[in-house]
Amino acid sequence: MNVTIKTPDEIAKMRIAGRLAANILLMIEEHIKPGISTNQLNDICHQYTLDHDAKSAPLFYPSYDPTDTTAFPKSICTSVNKVVCHGIPNDKPLKEGDTVNIDITVIKDGYHGDTSAMFHVGEITPANKKLTEVTQQCLYAAIDIVKPGMQLGEIGACIQKIADKNHYSIVQEYCGHGIGAVFHEEPQVLHYDEAKTKLGKKSKNYSLILKEGMTFTIEPMLNLGKRDTKLNKKDHWTVTTKDGRNSAQWEHTLAVTETGVEVLTARAGEPYFNG
Ligand code: MF3
Ligand code: CO
Ligand code: CO
Repeated sequence: MNVTIKTPDEIAKMRIAGRLAANILLMIEEHIKPGISTNQLNDICHQYTLDHDAKSAPLFYPSYDPTDTTAFPKSICTSVNKVVCHGIPNDKPLKEGDTVNIDITVIKDGYHGDTSAMFHVGEITPANKKLTEVTQQCLYAAIDIVKPGMQLGEIGACIQKIADKNHYSIVQEYCGHGIGAVFHEEPQVLHYDEAKTKLGKKSKNYSLILKEGMTFTIEPMLNLGKRDTKLNKKDHWTVTTKDGRNSAQWEHTLAVTETGVEVLTARAGEPYFNG
């Protein structure tokens, strides 16, 4: 596995990219109300990104060729209700009771910051509210155990304990990822307990030892119902739950430090935020 170690200089750049992505989530919150479309949210985020001398990483990902009809066509991902991830912004207005994940990735000075959060459109059901809260709890619990010397697989094991206790399922087809000058690089960060699978703790992924200077995302997706997903056959991007029940996701970009972890995309108001 080719897991890159970032220099302090590279981490400084990722801190700036991460801070910008975090600020976009803070900025967009007040706009999320019944009646606004995800396309309007896309355009506000895109303009804010340009105004801060950065680029939207999803736009025309992965080829970055504007004539590539298979590339992602928008600047952010907006995943509403049963959409698990990679929802494409459109003109349909959000309505009272919707839950929406906004996933922001920016490229600033050559480095990526990738973060997502759940928002509620007006009042949401208690079941959807709890799913959203427990998914954030999974992300936070996993962040809290990250330190040099640990095995990568402990992250998924930690998330699975909390999901199991709450009777939610975990999406397995999409995972966290190494990140830096490249949007998606090794390692793959699984959100379920690989030790419970055929490969077990002996898998190369599970036993990878974390080292200072590694940077990656954790971005668990939890479902109210079954874990199975389906990919939209027409747009080749939108992932939904197979059973149509709700899904939730939260994401941060992290750097392993000498003693623990730094959350590069921490927002004001979160426990990881410093200044
Ligand atoms: N931001 C997503 C992630 O967390 C990736 C989006 S790729 C896109 O990795 F093409 F769908 F935008
Ligand atoms: Co990501
Ligand atoms: Co993301």
